[in-house]
Amino acid sequence: MFPLQRPRRLRGNAAIRKMVRETSLSVDNLIYPLFITYGKGVRKKISSMPGCYQESIDLALKNAKEAHALGIPAILLFGIPEHKDKLGTSAYSEHGIIQKFIKKVKDRLPELYVITDVCLCEYTSHGHCGIIEKGEVLNDPTLELLAKEAVSHAKAGADMVAPSDMMDGRVEAIRLALDEEGFWNLPIMSYAAKYASAFYGPFREAAESTPQFGDRRSYQMDPPNRREALKEVALDIEEGADIVMVKPALSYLDIISDVKDNFDVPVAAYNVSGEYSMVKAAGKLGWIDEEKVMMEILTSIKRAGADLILTYHAKEAAKLLQR
Ligand code: PBG
Repeated sequence: MFPLQRPRRLRGNAAIRKMVRETSLSVDNLIYPLFITYGKGVRKKISSMPGCYQESIDLALKNAKEAHALGIPAILLFGIPEHKDKLGTSAYSEHGIIQKFIKKVKDRLPELYVITDVCLCEYTSHGHCGIIEKGEVLNDPTLELLAKEAVSHAKAGADMVAPSDMMDGRVEAIRLALDEEGFWNLPIMSYAAKYASAFYGPFREAAESTPQFGDRRSYQMDPPNRREALKEVALDIEEGADIVMVKPALSYLDIISDVKDNFDVPVAAYNVSGEYSMVKAAGKLGWIDEEKVMMEILTSIKRAGADLILTYHAKEAAKLLQR
């Protein structure tokens, strides 16, 4: 009899498909990014990211509350400060925008897990992720500022810090600084394999963090490199990272899979702005079924090995997962 094996037998109806399904996306895996700006009653559309906004503290609180009500366990915070300078001082000021928001949100929604992006690019006048000297991004002097920023987030009440700058040695610098201040139990999620990607384009409008000269290729990873990601991840774990992230996600599913296969720590993946905007744009044009494509993409990121997914789709996906 031909053929003996007929894989279609297990696809015959919804019940059997559900029973043998290998991957399931859950709202528990989602982290929702927020852009916090100064002022009051501000809700500024981000034109390249439909459905995403720069929000002042009052309205960001509302947004966080909605996310929490949908079952999303965590938010990731980015700040848009009123003043930028060469050293990004508002990134580590006690009265910085993020520090203020953390206090408010932990007060109102204590169960919502608050993760902060630790980087300088939103706070520096030149838009780079570190201190600049003669047109170069200095590594070691930058570590001190990143450590200060992480400690200030911890003091404000953050549950976890997530360094995204890609300076060498920053996880260790942050770990030591946190420990020295008594935050031994505060986890670090490092953007461990973060590539110099054109997929961040819309985010830079959102966070107003476009480099004013040059690009980030001297610190973020070169997209063609695969083995180097394992080296970056290994270093971050040695330095004390609790969770490691791969970023972007969709064009880097091989990297997510490699990291999952080679290490025992939880793996996060960042479904970045460009990935989000492409789905939104094609959906608006009627070229794809936006909801289905979104769920397929998020599921593929999970299938590749991501335990956690950072995504601007979090609220929409949570609504669909409730059905
Ligand atoms: C800050 C940072 C960036 C993103 C997250 N943190 C931008 C960059 O490195 O230029 C990108 C997020 C996205 O595109 O959604 N360093």
